[in-house]
Amino acid sequence: MRRSLTDYPVAGKRVLVRVDFNVPLDGGRVADDTRIRAALPTIQYLREQGCAVVLASHLGRPKGQVVDSLRMAPVAARLSELLGCPVATADDCVGSAVTAAVQRLAAGDVLLLENLRFHAAETANDAAFAAELAALADVYVNDAFGTAHRAHASTEGVAHLLPAVAGLLMERELAMLGDLLRDPARPFVVVLGGAKVTDKIGVIEKMLSVADAILVGGAMCFAFFKAAGLEVGTSKLEPEGVPVAAGIVASARDSTCAFDLPADVVVASAPEAGAAVRAVAADNMPADKMGLDIGPATVASFTARLRGAGTIFWNGPMGLFEIDDFAAGTRAVGEAVVASKAVTVVGGGDTVSAVRRFGLEDRITHVSTGGGASMEFMEGRALPGVVALLDKE
Ligand code: 3PG
Ligand code: MG
Repeated sequence: MRRSLTDYPVAGKRVLVRVDFNVPLDGGRVADDTRIRAALPTIQYLREQGCAVVLASHLGRPKGQVVDSLRMAPVAARLSELLGCPVATADDCVGSAVTAAVQRLAAGDVLLLENLRFHAAETANDAAFAAELAALADVYVNDAFGTAHRAHASTEGVAHLLPAVAGLLMERELAMLGDLLRDPARPFVVVLGGAKVTDKIGVIEKMLSVADAILVGGAMCFAFFKAAGLEVGTSKLEPEGVPVAAGIVASARDSTCAFDLPADVVVASAPEAGAAVRAVAADNMPADKMGLDIGPATVASFTARLRGAGTIFWNGPMGLFEIDDFAAGTRAVGEAVVASKAVTVVGGGDTVSAVRRFGLEDRITHVSTGGGASMEFMEGRALPGVVALLDKE
């Protein structure tokens, strides 16, 4: 059994909360605060319980070095605005100054530790480092679903050293994504896009046995076209993806799950705004053109599938949506997702950006804060940060 925050007596305790505040920064400010807002319910709950709240996160990949541009200060500033209370920061995440700062916290106070990955011991899941983190608190709460696929000191090691419970965001993520694997309302339609088929193979293989239809867009479709012997022009093609795509097509043939590739694509000479675009059939791509979006026939067939869905999981854009000329496919799929009566779940950084860009975020049942984590979960893999929360008693 996994222990949940609300079942565990935390009142008045010192609580170490692993959050995923790995957020995009721009000019020393938080550019997208989605992950910070997602952690607010747990933080508020702990404050209401009179806890001293010690937050810990990584930011970027500083690889064991102190990198000034990856300090947590901008995150603390944004969190403080969102909470409407001061958020203290520290120069480090362990050590005597941090221990003293934690001891000074009163009930309801919030302290955000410095970037965990300034220590190589974090990603190494070093036992002594995990023990130093554990010594800061009475209870450990993991609310960092986005980092749950990493077996690091703050996500895995520390969970064995303190009473360890799942935070409210973690619970919601596991419930929403877990339902997709366990008992999805049918038909269950999965939309996958993005550049690399090798990133999606695990999810595709799993979904062939769980979903009713898989719709594939994005540049990864060119690996499938190539595997079928089609011309892909100057499109972004992942060479290692071609045999992988061939294998997936073979598995799909043996499955009752429908597997739909684009029937047409939007092509242009270059991935640039204002380029002359036209739609061509998938088996008629010009050798000197690049595929940059799914075409209108594909939009029609994909949206028809989505209209009747009971559950939809979407990961990966259909084209280069950051440029308006190549955004129509991703936008149309997004609009069909929210127009359906389905339970809708969106995972992955790029897909979340797309959903926000088109103003659809509020109409999605669940926008996951996990990119890699949500994909590994959907592959049916156990996430080390979640496994470590299982109660061994
Ligand atoms: C993410 O954004 O993918 C998570 O925060 C994990 O970060 P990582 O990929 O650098 O481990
Ligand atoms: Mg990642």
